[in-house]
Amino acid sequence: MTKSSAMVAGVGLACAAALYFATDVRSQDIRTPLPRTAKSPAANPSTPQKVALGRLLFWDPVLSGPKDVACGTCHHPDFGYAENRDLSIGVTGAGLGHRRRFSAGSSIPLVKRNSQTILNVAFVGSDEQGNYDPATAPMFWDVRAKGLEAQAMEPLKALEEMRGRTYADDKAIDVVVARLTEIAEYRRLFAEAFGGTRPITATNLGYALAAFQRSIVANNAPFDRYMRGDRTAMNATQLAGMRRFERVGCANCHNGPMFSDYKLHVLGVPDNAALPTDPGAEGRYAFRTASLRNLRFTAPYMHSGIFNTLEDVLEFYDDVDNGGGRRGGRNNDRNVNVSREELDPLLRQLRGVDDDDFELLAFLDALSDEKFDRNIPKTVPSGLPVGGTIN
Ligand code: HEC
Ligand code: HEC
Repeated sequence: MTKSSAMVAGVGLACAAALYFATDVRSQDIRTPLPRTAKSPAANPSTPQKVALGRLLFWDPVLSGPKDVACGTCHHPDFGYAENRDLSIGVTGAGLGHRRRFSAGSSIPLVKRNSQTILNVAFVGSDEQGNYDPATAPMFWDVRAKGLEAQAMEPLKALEEMRGRTYADDKAIDVVVARLTEIAEYRRLFAEAFGGTRPITATNLGYALAAFQRSIVANNAPFDRYMRGDRTAMNATQLAGMRRFERVGCANCHNGPMFSDYKLHVLGVPDNAALPTDPGAEGRYAFRTASLRNLRFTAPYMHSGIFNTLEDVLEFYDDVDNGGGRRGGRNNDRNVNVSREELDPLLRQLRGVDDDDFELLAFLDALSDEKFDRNIPKTVPSGLPVGGTIN
């Protein structure tokens, strides 16, 4: 048992979230490749039938109130299963990625945050040694859901994402389950995947979506191949960048095989001007450390989608390192609601960040893996346009 799981067990669940703030632990290990296969929770072992069904559900807009948005709308393989938009547009939107807009007359607000990738979401919660529990993995930028099975219900209920004004949030799951039950192909596929007399349930919907998402992995980046023993997989520039990543202090938070400690930290990333301020987890402007996997495909960056390039991200960290706001001390790159004293101590310990550090950028690029499953079904059982209104 790890130290932190012993602590969680000891203090009970009410305090579990607070433990993500642990700043006394200095974890630095970034030498662990991703596992070759992903684990499933005991309650939901993966099967090919569940994965195939989950893929259809993921792409079927029948899951959304006005039947115009699918999970895949905002988690698209063209953008590494993220979105290429600072903030997502859900129901009543049209188009894909940065070309997506609200349709005329829409009264739906923007989604509050940048879409996270579901590439490698199977490994969320990995510690430095690569241990993780898929049943309790801390999901979302503010770790408000536990595990993919539970997470999958949230977008269906969210006004801005998939519900719209078609029904109330406490009715969303029932309506979607009823819709699926009316479709003969879903009745057959759920029966094949789960058996039983009433296989189409909210639980099984979450199980199928989770099983599919666990199959979307990109775990053979140059870094993984290097750490598994292929010493030619990373070049000298990337290796120099890896050493710098550790020396500068990035690895204090970005560690383990996903390059995230999966804890909450206060960085003071600026809000997106299109929205009211986002106080993050527990109102402290804390957000979960982002994974650094597959960044080549998943711009823009941060919870607010505020930075378009990795150079912009480095400039943000460079400014902290230089006392905050080297552009005439105007703090352009800081969240005005977060004082310097409130910033995470590990952030203030960064030393020697440089926004055009080509070696560090080369190392980050070695964490991307081109070869992942990009298959989009040609049709979905509802007969609606695959992926919703994206063309
Ligand atoms: C309108 C765009 C949109 C749609 C539709 C959407 N998502 Fe998301 N997804 C997001 C955004 C934005 C976030 C980050 C939300 C947050 O952290 O508050 C997210 C986060 C997630 C995460 C968390 C990943 C992590 O690393 O913690 C998962 C998993 C996920 N979505 C799966 C799904 C599934 C499954 C569906 C369909 C049932 C879906 N999404 C539909 C935009 C969308
Ligand atoms: C104190 C912990 C901490 C340190 C140190 C740290 N980061 Fe982060 N990093 C985070 C957190 C937390 C986020 C998400 C913040 C947000 O969205 O508000 C993040 C986000 C990022 C992102 C955006 C990824 C995405 O998908 O949006 C990149 C890139 C990044 N960090 C790189 C680095 C680099 C390079 C360093 C070293 C110069 C570094 N970080 C140092 C905690 C840290």
